[in-house]
Amino acid sequence: MIESFRERFGTAEGVRVFRAPGRVNLIGEHTDYNLGFVLPMALELATYAAVAPGSEGKLRIYSEDRREMREFSAADAGSLSRTGHWTDYPMGVARELAIAGFAIQPANLLIRSTVPEGAGLSSSAALEVSSALAFLNGRALNGHSMDPLDLVRLCQRAERNFVGMPCGIMDQYISVFGREHAAVEIDCRSLGHRLVPLPPDVAFIAVNSMVKHALAASAYRERVAECAAAASAMHVESLRDVSPEQLAQAAHLMPEIVARRARHVVTEDARVNRFVDASSSGDLDLMGRLMIDSHRSLQHDYEVSCAELDFLVDAALGIEGVLGSRMTGGGFGGCTVTLLRQDAAARFRDRIAQAYHLQFQVVPRIYSCLPSAGAGEVKNSETIPSLIRLSSQR
Ligand code: GLA
Repeated sequence: MIESFRERFGTAEGVRVFRAPGRVNLIGEHTDYNLGFVLPMALELATYAAVAPGSEGKLRIYSEDRREMREFSAADAGSLSRTGHWTDYPMGVARELAIAGFAIQPANLLIRSTVPEGAGLSSSAALEVSSALAFLNGRALNGHSMDPLDLVRLCQRAERNFVGMPCGIMDQYISVFGREHAAVEIDCRSLGHRLVPLPPDVAFIAVNSMVKHALAASAYRERVAECAAAASAMHVESLRDVSPEQLAQAAHLMPEIVARRARHVVTEDARVNRFVDASSSGDLDLMGRLMIDSHRSLQHDYEVSCAELDFLVDAALGIEGVLGSRMTGGGFGGCTVTLLRQDAAARFRDRIAQAYHLQFQVVPRIYSCLPSAGAGEVKNSETIPSLIRLSSQR
């Protein structure tokens, strides 16, 4: 990656490389902006930002994946406006940093990512967090000049205020706080978390439907608004404050569709906590059942699934060794995540790929989900996946 940086910018003097992972969410979908619980894990799939001091007052960002260079004046970082282009993510971060009082220095950035875009594995947050670390050039996390939680919040603000997506905090949080060997249960109200070890002999596999339906962004906004309407009908700050029983009693206070959306959220919150307990006690069957219940609730009550995701879940459940399966991420395309016995993994990959291809004439990408560390600087001894690896199936 440093070679590539040198080729692009003429010199690699003073270059540092920062990494921020994507994530897969095991359970707790569309609960984060309702201040509830989520259980993601950071993935090995990650975005890398190489950075070195720049010249002529310029911020130059090159995306290897898009083979595209964009330039901005570093001094204007605080007054940028949205372009609808991929650079909105790093520039949104630069703007928030400038607003927070960090002077953005002229710099050259080279971005490489192994997180597939639009796959529900949080490529946006990985880009935001890796760019933030690059702009700060190591002054956050390792240098302690910015609290990691402030960094999470800042990246979330970049997406909400600049990109215009009213997202919750899960993706940026797990990209910063991910850990090896564990999923992370996040309390999206207190913003505290606990590590959740996963039982041995099981695997999580993400299957990419390779589709992204156009309604994703507008439907997300609609769901956020419907949840707010349900909370306001019940005179609570957020659906986090509501139990499934309380909701059942108050359902007549709101339109039927709003009550259904709220039912997903309050039952999903309860499922996250049951899943964490089941994982701790090694109750694999219960973990699987909760994932299936989560999917059905997203499919019928929250209505953020789609034919491709439903097919992948149903097909997975018919394969021996599979314990549970559900869509993961915002929905309307992207990935499913499947819990299965480790020794069934090879068969699962073959069967699911075949079944999906037969149905939709599309070859799904398949990713093993191994919990990985959160964002930080890449040390010399670590290897960064090459671009060749990017295009191959993992
Ligand atoms: C997207 C958002 C997250 C979260 C999920 C759904 O990934 O960025 O904040 O709301 O959708 O769980």
